[in-house]
Amino acid sequence: MKTLDRYVVAGGNRLQGKVAISGAKNAALPILAAALLTSDESLIHNTPVIRDVGVMLEILRRLGAQVEELPEGETGRGLRIVPGALASGEVGADFTREMRSSIFLMGPLLARLGKIRISYPGGCAIGPRPIDFHLRGLEQLGAKIEERFGFIEASVPGRLKGTEVYLDFPSVGATENLMMAAVLADGVTVIRNAAREPEIVDLQNFLNRMGAKVRGAGMDVIRVQGTEALGRVEHTVIPDRIEAGTFLAAAAITKGDVTAAGVIPEHLDAICAKLREMGCITEDGEDWVRVIGPERLKATDLKTLPYPGFPTDMQPQMMALMSVAEGTSIVTETIFENRFKVAEELRRLGGNVKTEGRTAVVQGVPQLSGARVECPALREGMALVLAGLAAEGTTTIDQIVHIDRGYQNLDQKLGGLGATITRG
Ligand code: EPZ
Repeated sequence: MKTLDRYVVAGGNRLQGKVAISGAKNAALPILAAALLTSDESLIHNTPVIRDVGVMLEILRRLGAQVEELPEGETGRGLRIVPGALASGEVGADFTREMRSSIFLMGPLLARLGKIRISYPGGCAIGPRPIDFHLRGLEQLGAKIEERFGFIEASVPGRLKGTEVYLDFPSVGATENLMMAAVLADGVTVIRNAAREPEIVDLQNFLNRMGAKVRGAGMDVIRVQGTEALGRVEHTVIPDRIEAGTFLAAAAITKGDVTAAGVIPEHLDAICAKLREMGCITEDGEDWVRVIGPERLKATDLKTLPYPGFPTDMQPQMMALMSVAEGTSIVTETIFENRFKVAEELRRLGGNVKTEGRTAVVQGVPQLSGARVECPALREGMALVLAGLAAEGTTTIDQIVHIDRGYQNLDQKLGGLGATITRG
């Protein structure tokens, strides 16, 4: 979708100060889908006010759920979801094309209604993003799945049946989808080679507060004892480790001194280790992490891996830092096939990035120079904002609707740290 919104960023300001981190997008999205597993109410606090959450709430409303905002608390935006009997089990292309995460609805709707008709989720700029692990796992749980006319139709007579599922790759979404399908299944489900991200632990905590019996999230084997029904739940979403990492990277690239507040420091271990390798000083406390950037970053090598390895959602941001570091950095992207789209835009800013398959070689230059660039996707768009903060002159970034998907009040938060950034 072409929109006029753009950011205009002036380079050269050192970012200083404290920024409050919002709730995690990638925890809130599966948790909102999991609210459908009961007809009773879910009170979900600290949900980020971002486009992807807005899309998910619209889907829940279309399915017949009552959705309302709770009075603003100190823990961010709260939501009250009451699915009730659920009017429909259909999710149309107007949503799935916009947001791949709508695939998370398959598990809960199959578990609750025994059927779902969902249009095939659109790929996005970071590779084809198939859903074969999701579909194969749901079939192993007893679902019948047909794909036709651009829709996936899944159904199960009666309840899903617990079983052992082995994931070829520790897919975050497939792990979450199968957890949500299994909590109302008949019998025990074991998910092997499960993803271990903190957002999966947050989903397990939410499900268990509903009365589910899920064990093992955070490790590679998750066990679910199916139950007949689930009930009312109240939960606060964990803070967003990728948003926090992005603001700490902004300190690194602007020779700044930024504290991300309201975080879980251990979720940032891999990111802080990499920033230290590049010459930053990091400190942390109970619920905060501070990064002080050096006069000149040092090149380093980076390989993205499933958690607790370095997160792919921080890879484009790190490529921006490497573009102005001293020396040559090698980036290996092992999670997605095509997550170097930001390279072309960094070259427009004077960066020297060469990519070949899943490897990129970044030769640091003394300084980038501001130009007009375009967001290819969410995290890639943030990489361009970081580059603009350090570039000489002004950088204009188009298509920032991608950034709105995952960052709440970005310009206010960066402005609060001393950045000169306006939304035009
Ligand atoms: C989640 O996406 C996150 N999104 C992504 O964050 C994140 O990059 C990714 O996990 C990896 O950490 C949400 O949680 C909403 P995967 P997901 O299934 O679940 C392949 C962001 O910027 N695969 O772990 O889609 C897939 O193509 C987003 O916040 C299959 O082949 O990621 C990819 O190469 C971007 N078949 C790899 O596995 C499947 O059935 C990892 O995907 C599923 C995935």
